[in-house]
Amino acid sequence: MQLRDYMPKTLFGRMLAIILVPMIIVQIVTIFIFYERHWDSVTRHMASGLGSEIDYIVDQTGALPDTERLEQTKQLAARYFNFKIRFLPDAILEPYNNNQRNVPYSELAFANVLASRLAYPWTIDLETIPDFIQIQVQLGNGVMLITADRKRLISSTSWTFLGWTVGSSILLFCTALLFLKAQVKPIIQLANAARKLGLGRQTDDWHLQGAKEVRLAGRAFQSMRHRINRQLAERTAMLAGVSHDLRTPLTRMRLQLALMSSSQDTAALEQDIDELEQMIDGYLAFARGEGTEQTETASLGDILNSIFSASEKIDKGRLKLEIPETGLPDFPMRRRAMKRALENIIGNAVRYASYAEIRAKYRGDNIYIFIDDDGPGIAEEHRADAIRPFVRLEESRNKATGGTGLGLAIANDIILGHGGELSFDDAPLGGLRVTVTLPV
Ligand SMILES: Nc1ncnc2c1ncn2[C@@H]1O[C@H](COP(=O)(O)OP(=O)(O)OP(=O)(O)O)[C@@H](O)[C@H]1O
Ligand SMILES: [Mg+2]
Repeated sequence: MQLRDYMPKTLFGRMLAIILVPMIIVQIVTIFIFYERHWDSVTRHMASGLGSEIDYIVDQTGALPDTERLEQTKQLAARYFNFKIRFLPDAILEPYNNNQRNVPYSELAFANVLASRLAYPWTIDLETIPDFIQIQVQLGNGVMLITADRKRLISSTSWTFLGWTVGSSILLFCTALLFLKAQVKPIIQLANAARKLGLGRQTDDWHLQGAKEVRLAGRAFQSMRHRINRQLAERTAMLAGVSHDLRTPLTRMRLQLALMSSSQDTAALEQDIDELEQMIDGYLAFARGEGTEQTETASLGDILNSIFSASEKIDKGRLKLEIPETGLPDFPMRRRAMKRALENIIGNAVRYASYAEIRAKYRGDNIYIFIDDDGPGIAEEHRADAIRPFVRLEESRNKATGGTGLGLAIANDIILGHGGELSFDDAPLGGLRVTVTLPV
């Protein structure tokens, strides 16, 4: 039972509640305390006004009016009070029943006034003529019928006031709705941009708008993103430069080796130089692609299929691919980089094992790709090492298979860059299971 449980979840809802709750409370207080008392007293005043006028007319008529007296009263009533009067000679009246149902409040107040003032029996008729009220008074020689406008009992300004109270609330509500929507929009933009940065997707700078603080946060975010992107680009460029520069002394060493008389030592040296060159080439190839590729919306299913069919051409039947029938959702990615990452992982499975299975599934905004194989696997304590650059486990195995030890490092880098994750497990097939998780 906390206040938090009752609060709206979104900022928009909260801001609306902050405006509306006090407003509604004020309106209720206004209507139910001040306004009800005001209406009550206005109604009483009007009822007692009309009541005393009727009382006066009846007094003027007297208990046994003659024709002349009646004529005088008629004129008096028409002139001063706007009443119409008729006289029904010798008629007998059924007295007013105070317990009538469905009598409006103001008419009931009026009946109470009449009851306390009139000395003769009387009744009120609200139905015969709509919008008019008929008061019948039993005199000694007949019934006098007084017709008055019903508006005399109802304060019309009361309704105007009520209308304005409700109307202005609705107006205020709609205005607040419009303005608040505009205030929340830039915050949502900022959240989306932050999310895209995390997923490694490109976005343009958006037009900053909204409150000063929100614009400030937006600007801070935009310049942070520029700095991050610049730093990434610079890091890649620097490492590419270093790798490139390393090749010059290596080439010189190779030349010097060629001039020396060949022996077992020179052969070993030559092999080391070969390996170094391979490593540098591998890194350079990676660094060149990095940073320049733009994100585009692409299909992971297509990428997996093309890797699969390329592998099918070389050695058939060693790979199995399983993609859900409903397909995988397309999402923005650096397509060539993504293909490269998956190629590296699947390539490992094919290289170090004899049979591998790829399964993809889509659950709760994430795509999972499992690459299982039946090879030797990687011991738990070596899994963290395997993704480090230039690390190759069990040299002897790799001598035969070749490779620079960059594959998993590159794959990991690319997948992290897309906001995803790479993890290792034991596969049911006996070898290694690599799980790639990618947020869509
Ligand atoms: N599916 C696998 N089964 C068993 N061992 C693996 C598997 N995948 C990777 N490894 C081990 O992890 C090491 C690092 O893999 P990584 O892909 O980074 O380098 P590499 O395959 O040796 O060289 P590269 O991929 O650069 O040609 C490998 O040398 C291998 O020992
Ligand atoms: Mg590899």
